[in-house]
Amino acid sequence: MPVVALPTGRVKDACLDIIEGSGMPAKKLRNAGRNLVVDEGDYRYILGKPSDIPTLVSQGLADLALVGNDVTEESGVELVELIDTGRGRCFMAIAGTPAAAERFNGHSGTLTGLRVASKYERIARRTFESWGAHVKILHLNGSVELAPALGLVDCIFDIVQTGGTLKANGLVVLRRTAEVSLRLVANPGALQLRWESLRGAVNAVRKFVIGG
Ligand code: PRP
Repeated sequence: MPVVALPTGRVKDACLDIIEGSGMPAKKLRNAGRNLVVDEGDYRYILGKPSDIPTLVSQGLADLALVGNDVTEESGVELVELIDTGRGRCFMAIAGTPAAAERFNGHSGTLTGLRVASKYERIARRTFESWGAHVKILHLNGSVELAPALGLVDCIFDIVQTGGTLKANGLVVLRRTAEVSLRLVANPGALQLRWESLRGAVNAVRKFVIGG
C-alpha cells in the first residue's frame, strides 16, 4: 500500500485537488476531520504539519509526499523530487515597510546590519549570504508580519501568495527571491525498493499535471 504524506494548513486543499485530479481516492481524505491517518482504497494518507513532511518521508513513514519546495529547502532533508506540480504557487520575498525600500535599492553593503524575521531561517541566511550581506536573523514560527509592523525588525523573509497579509500589516515586497510550488517528492529508498507499487501514483500525478 503506497503511503502518501500530505501537509495540513494553507496548501491542504491544493494537495487534495492534485490527489483527486490524479484519480486517487480522496472522499474519506476530504472528510478526515481530526484523523491524521486515512486508509482509502489502495492508499494510506498521512496528514502532517508542512514543516514535518520532509521528516515523515526521510524517516520512511511515507513513500511519497506533496510539499512546497520552500519547506523541503528549509528542512535541509535530502529527498528525491519527482514532479513540480505547478500547483500551490507562491513566492519567497523580503518584505518590509515602504521606508525600508531604500536599503534594497543599492549594493549589498546597504543590507548589512539589517534585522530580519523569518520562519525560513536557513533559506533567509543563505539568500543574504549569497549577496554578501551580513544580517541578524530572528527566528519566528509564524505571523512574522507582526515583527516589522511593531518595529522589532527591519524586514521579513517569507512566502507571499495573495499579498493580503502583507497589505493588512502595511508591508510591501522589497525583493522577490524565489518561486515556490508543490512538488511530489519521494523517499529515495522507497523508490528503489517499492517502485512497482508507487509507479501508478507517480504516473497519475504526472499525467494530471501535464494534462491539467
Ligand atoms: C503564510 C505566510 C504569510 C501568508 C502569506 O503563512 O507565512 O504569513 O501565508 O499569504 P498571503 O500572501 O496570501 O497573505 P501561513 O498562512 O502559512 O501561516 P503562519 O504565518 O502561521 O505560518
